[in-house]
Amino acid sequence: MTETTSCPLIRIVGLNKQYETDAGAFPVLKEVNLEVAAGEFVAIMGPSGSGKSTFLNLLGCLDLPTSGDYWLQGREVARLDRDERAQLRNRLLGFVFQGFNLLPRMTLEENVGLPLVYARIPRQERRQRAREMLERMGLGEYFHSIPSRISGGQQQRAAIARALILRPPLILADEPTGNLDTRTSGEVMAIFQELNHEGVAVVLVTHEPDVAACARRLVRFVDGRIVHDGPATAEALAAHVQAVQRVEEREAGMGSTSG
Ligand SMILES: Nc1ncnc2c1ncn2[C@@H]1O[C@H](COP(=O)(O)OP(=O)(O)OP(=O)(O)O)[C@@H](O)[C@H]1O
Ligand SMILES: [Mg+2]
Repeated sequence: MTETTSCPLIRIVGLNKQYETDAGAFPVLKEVNLEVAAGEFVAIMGPSGSGKSTFLNLLGCLDLPTSGDYWLQGREVARLDRDERAQLRNRLLGFVFQGFNLLPRMTLEENVGLPLVYARIPRQERRQRAREMLERMGLGEYFHSIPSRISGGQQQRAAIARALILRPPLILADEPTGNLDTRTSGEVMAIFQELNHEGVAVVLVTHEPDVAACARRLVRFVDGRIVHDGPATAEALAAHVQAVQRVEEREAGMGSTSG
């Protein structure tokens, strides 16, 4: 299939994912459909265990679905071999994780430049591009610092710099503010919003309604299914909070009935 700019960035149809466990097949994602266009800002919410990280890993081609179809910028992911998938990932995606995932013994400059090593960019250019990106994230003083010497918010900004260094059109972030205090979390979200205004699509998993409110579109998962896909309004965010309460009550054995 050829790539065109008119196809959605993400197109998922009838996607299922089950994990094989000792107790048998364990379905986690059930008949999920989703389209995301270039430049969108989507928040994904849902109770713990509803399948959000599993879904994000599938979006990021880190895992394959049990069944269903996934086209990433018009390429059918399941038809690609491992190397082609890795190339597609490098070209289209940047990842940001809750735990920052920076390499502890490398400087920020080295961490941020790492994707350029895999892309075979020469050292001098790597250094220059890593520094530009760190400066942009307000980390101009920390080129030679190792991650443990800077704050959590600074580490997350460095991780965003690393995710952006190959200029991908899509950033996937799994609870990127989960380890940050409210103020720092606000700073990190301002960066995602700025990137989005520049045309980068953002798909971000979060438990925090304040964070999700930064997105324009909200997708809610409950028990592996999408139960809402629409504007990130106050009502939609409130419905998420209620869904979490229902699941917590159910798990506490307090027995809410309908679902
Ligand atoms: N590799 C695996 N093998 C078996 N089961 C798994 C595996 N990974 C996740 N699960 C299960 O799949 C379900 C969904 O997990 P997932 O991590 O996607 O949830 P989540 O919505 O991201 O939750 P949280 O909000 O707590 O991060 C959970 O019940 C989890 O225990
Ligand atoms: Mg998760």
